[in-house]
Amino acid sequence: MSERISIFRDTRHLQILAVLIAAAGAGAFWVRGQLVPPDWGKSGPYRESALAQIASDPHILTADNKCLTCHESVHEERKDSPHVAVRCMHCHGNGHEHMKVAEKGDYKKPETPAAWDNKFPSKVDLFVTKDRAICLSCHMKVLGMPESFKSIDVAKHLEEQGAENVDSPDVCFECHTGHSPGIE
Ligand code: HEC
Ligand code: HEC
Ligand code: HEC
Ligand code: HEC
Repeated sequence: MSERISIFRDTRHLQILAVLIAAAGAGAFWVRGQLVPPDWGKSGPYRESALAQIASDPHILTADNKCLTCHESVHEERKDSPHVAVRCMHCHGNGHEHMKVAEKGDYKKPETPAAWDNKFPSKVDLFVTKDRAICLSCHMKVLGMPESFKSIDVAKHLEEQGAENVDSPDVCFECHTGHSPGIE
């Protein structure tokens, strides 16, 4: 009889292990239930309500045709220019406040236009700047730019063209304009 295998005694360590695993599993399940938002996974691996939340964020981009409802003459200046593909907001900011005020008919052109704060994207709602940084954000020769894109080596370009104020931020405007930069 002493040879009898005691099932209870010999598998006790396994039973303890099974209880621990079950408890850990249940715990993990509970923690997950607390952490995962209730609407997660209803329409995919994301919160369903995130869609509405993102859609209600203020939009940053402004389409050119919104600006052109009031600035038709700018369209005339730009329509045959290679810059017709460059969005107004790149050089002027998104203009949300500007448009709000202008729609009410209250916008008065200030004596000195708002200065650009040197940031892309700018916190300044509307600015007029001749800072070369704007031009060079696209036209500086950098590795990887397609050969066909018109980019310049700044120092070389200014020297070749005989620019006067090489160090001035406005130097590009000695010869180019923002709306129609081509040289005839
Ligand atoms: C509802 C009409 C309206 C809309 C839309 C509008 N503007 Fe204007 N904007 C004006 C008026 C009015 C002025 C002042 C013009 C003046 O006095 O010569 C002005 C002036 C400007 C100026 C000169 C600013 C200054 O203070 O010197 C710029 C640049 C400008 N707008 C850019 C834009 C851009 C970019 C957009 C689109 C994001 C835009 N505008 C949309 C009405 C509008
Ligand atoms: C590549 C940069 C660039 C783009 C793109 C651009 N502008 Fe301008 N804009 C300028 C600069 C620079 C000035 C200042 C012009 C000057 O004084 O010579 C200016 C001036 C203006 C003015 C003031 C009027 C004037 O001539 O003094 C208005 C209004 C204006 N832009 C509207 C627009 C609108 C609307 C668009 C898009 C349809 C646009 N701009 C796109 C660079 C740009
Ligand atoms: C958002 C990008 C962008 C910005 C900012 C920008 N440009 Fe351009 N520019 C372009 C594109 C795109 C073309 C057309 C290039 C092409 O056809 O290969 C172009 C073309 C040109 C050309 C060639 C004109 C021609 O007749 O072939 C000149 C000069 C130029 N830009 C000067 C400027 C100046 C000066 C500024 C600053 C006021 C400026 N650009 C700002 C994108 C930009
Ligand atoms: C002193 C006059 C002058 C100044 C200042 C000047 N440019 Fe130019 N730029 C020209 C002329 C002229 C051309 C046309 C050259 C040609 O077709 O070979 C030109 C051509 C360009 C082109 C087209 C290059 C190409 O491959 O066809 C770009 C882009 C350009 N300039 C950007 C700028 C920028 C950005 C600045 C300011 C940092 C600037 N330029 C300052 C006179 C000038």
